[in-house]
Amino acid sequence: MDILRENLLSLLKNNNIEKLEALLGLANLIRAETVGDQVCIHGIIEFSNYCRSLCAYCGIRAPNEKIQRYRMSLEEVKKTAVNASNNLGYKMLVLQSGEDLWYDADKLAWLIKTIHKKCRRCLLFLSIGDRDYDTYENLYKAGARGVLFRFETSDESLYKKLHPDCSFAERIEQLKFMQEIGYLTASGPIIGLPGQTIESLLDDIYLMKELKITMSSMGPFIPTSDTPLENEIGGTADLTLKMIALTRIIYPKARIPIATALEKIGGNKARIAALNGGGNAFMLNLTPTQYRDSYVIYDGKNQLKSHIHSKESIDELDGIIKSCGRKICRGWGTDFTLNKKNFASLCNMER
Ligand code: 5AD
Repeated sequence: MDILRENLLSLLKNNNIEKLEALLGLANLIRAETVGDQVCIHGIIEFSNYCRSLCAYCGIRAPNEKIQRYRMSLEEVKKTAVNASNNLGYKMLVLQSGEDLWYDADKLAWLIKTIHKKCRRCLLFLSIGDRDYDTYENLYKAGARGVLFRFETSDESLYKKLHPDCSFAERIEQLKFMQEIGYLTASGPIIGLPGQTIESLLDDIYLMKELKITMSSMGPFIPTSDTPLENEIGGTADLTLKMIALTRIIYPKARIPIATALEKIGGNKARIAALNGGGNAFMLNLTPTQYRDSYVIYDGKNQLKSHIHSKESIDELDGIIKSCGRKICRGWGTDFTLNKKNFASLCNMER
C-alpha cells in the first residue's frame, strides 16, 4: 500500500486527542486558504415522509408502520419556501422528502416554477431520491439547480446489505446523470455504519473528490428505533470530525456542511470543532412545526432546537460563526468547486 494512504488511514484511526487537534488545525488552515471565511446557512424543508425505500438505517423506511406519515400540499410547500426566501433570508433551500411518487414530475415542476416566480432569487436543491433521467431533466428545466443525493457508502457489498432495493453502481450512475443534466451535487457517506471500515471511509472521501461533488454532505450514523439497525452502535463525533478534516485536506475546495446528526451526538462543542476543523456551512430546518416530529430519519433529530430555524437559533449560530472569526453568508456564497462559467449560469437564476 502506498505511504500516503497508510498515513491517511492512520489519521482516521487515531484516537489521540493532540493528534486530532493537529489534524483539525491543519484542515482549518487549508479551509482559510482555499475557501475563505464565509459560512453559508442553507435551509431545508421536509415536505413528505412517505417513502417506498428500504434503507436499513432510516426511520422513515417504507416498512416502518410506527410513524405517522404526512404529505404537505404543494401550496404549503410553496408558501414555506417563499417565506424562507423572501422573509427569512434563505437563498439556498433543499426540498427533501422520502421517496414519494405522489409528487410526480408535473407536480414538482409546478412547485419549482411557482417558487421561482415568487422568490427574488433562490437556489433550489431537490432531495427526493431515485427518479429517472427525464424527471430530473424536466425538474432542471423547471428551475431546480441542485440535488442532495448521498451515496451513503462506497463499499459495494455494504451498500447492498443496507439497500436491498438498489445497487451502489446504480446510485453512482444516477449521480453522474444528474451532473450531466447540469445539477450541482451534494453527496457523501454516513459515518460509522455497522460493518463499515476505515478504509472504505477514506475511499468515500476520494469518491467525493473524483465526482467533483459540490457539497460534501456527511454525518454520523444514528441507530434508530423500529429499523433493522436499531440495536447497533452509532458513529462517533470524533470520527465525523476526522472525516470533515480529512475531506478538507484531500478535497480542499469542497463545501462541507456541518450536519445536524453531528450536533445531535456532540452538541455545540462538536459544531464548533467542525467549524474550526474544515466545515463551512450549516443547514437549518424550516419544516412547519406540525410535521417536524414525524420526519424521524433518525431518533431524536428534533430534540435540539438549535438547528430549527428561529430568531434565537439564527442568533446563536451567528454568535458561534463570529466567535470563530468567520463571516456569515445567507446566500450560496462562492462555489469553489465550479469553474467561472458554471458559476455565472448559476447566478443568473433570477426569472
Ligand atoms: N443516521 C444517520 N443518517 C441517516 N440518514 C438516514 N437515516 C440516518 C440515520 N439513522 C441520512 C441518509 C440520507 C439522509 C437524508 O439522511 O444519509 O441520505
